[in-house]
Amino acid sequence: MSPDSRFPRSFLWGAATSAYQVEGSPLADGAGPSIWQRFAHTPGRVRGGDTGDVACDHYRRFEEDVRWMRELGLNAYRFSVSWSRVLPEGTGRVNQRGLDFYRRLVDALLSAGIQPAVTLYHWDLPAALDDRGGWLNRDVAEWFAEYASVLFGALDDRVEMWATLNEPWVVTDGGYLTGDLAPGHRNLFEAPRAAHNLLRAHASAVQAYRAQGQHRIGLVVNLEPKDPASGQPEDLAATARADAYMNRQFLDPVFLGRSPEEMREIFGAAWPDPPAADFDHIRQPIDFLGINYYTRSVTCADPAARPVGAGRVRQPRHAYTETDWEVYPAGLTQTLLGVRQRYGDIPLYVTENGAAFYDPPTVEGDELADPLRVAYLRTHLQAVQEARRHGVDVRGYFAWSLLDNFEWSHGYSKRFGLLHVDFETQRRTPKASARFYAEVIRSRGEALLEGRLPA
Ligand code: FCB
Repeated sequence: MSPDSRFPRSFLWGAATSAYQVEGSPLADGAGPSIWQRFAHTPGRVRGGDTGDVACDHYRRFEEDVRWMRELGLNAYRFSVSWSRVLPEGTGRVNQRGLDFYRRLVDALLSAGIQPAVTLYHWDLPAALDDRGGWLNRDVAEWFAEYASVLFGALDDRVEMWATLNEPWVVTDGGYLTGDLAPGHRNLFEAPRAAHNLLRAHASAVQAYRAQGQHRIGLVVNLEPKDPASGQPEDLAATARADAYMNRQFLDPVFLGRSPEEMREIFGAAWPDPPAADFDHIRQPIDFLGINYYTRSVTCADPAARPVGAGRVRQPRHAYTETDWEVYPAGLTQTLLGVRQRYGDIPLYVTENGAAFYDPPTVEGDELADPLRVAYLRTHLQAVQEARRHGVDVRGYFAWSLLDNFEWSHGYSKRFGLLHVDFETQRRTPKASARFYAEVIRSRGEALLEGRLPA
């Protein structure tokens, strides 16, 4: 690798987590319950009855976790704020003790030379707001802007990178259509309404930031290339619908000021046909786009798969992760190039990328060998390099995740961490992938070259 093909010195090398997945102590210090607190405590919702009550105990162990980040050489950490820690009822009264936790975390990061990248919403709506209709209530846009303003006021002097929402597609698909995620509804009419209100809330927070903030704000979406299983017209049409539903439903309104045509076809009578004025509000410049990439989908027509009418074709020769996601690094390059082509040259960050592979619950000794995750990281970082070689403005990469953690309805059964967590003792052990990532960071990408083994 020639010295100039290395990643630039300004590149952000991070790891990501989210509040409910790692913090634990969800009701400590005056916090209100979130929809995830409620959902996880509802029997049958989460595998094995697991909850985020303890999780990685990051709420109490964040200083140790920041030391680990420093040891790995990270210069950025992406985490989310729990809305109901800061505003226990969702609006109105601010809980200073909740806010103080994030102040202490930000200060610890900054003194370790690590840049905080804060996500305002990673799926844990205050339960009190869900009782008022949650994402289905149009007022949620003002509620969200009010909450965002509290955070901007408290932390924008030290936080230079903000994201409004994490993966709004998952919020609506899992929360309102399949019911696999909180609040667990299954309603064709609700999903597109929640989606539209998520967009409005995003825009209202961006607007609040323009009035109040000094740095940068963006949005984080999960994208997945949809490759047609064949050239048959039905498969091509299904692929276009799947792409509209997952990849364009949120980005077209934000960047182009309209919803994809296919949305009407997908939702039929359930499509709300939002007023044009809403799109003027939604289409506001953002400073960067965060992309979470895990896999792609080879797509075929499947009329039984309502409402999109698209299915996924398994690729027998390819590797799959423990969450049954095809390992497909080329899809990351494809995604980054595709976003630039459709939406223009906006600064991009890979805000999540990683994989669950089997790791044992406890570890003897000091290191855990996870060759599949090392290979996953290596090939996906090479895919980022490839996009950069094509001139795409990718400015950072955040591995999902810093820690093994509460993987939503899978509970603790899927481990994505660079650091292994023994959930009995809370001991952290770096996996070989953590050491490998540290070496990539130290060498600014040289360690990605094939044949070079992790230190
Ligand atoms: C993403 C989520 C993140 C984590 C990973 C595996 O969809 O943003 O919280 O669950 O998947």
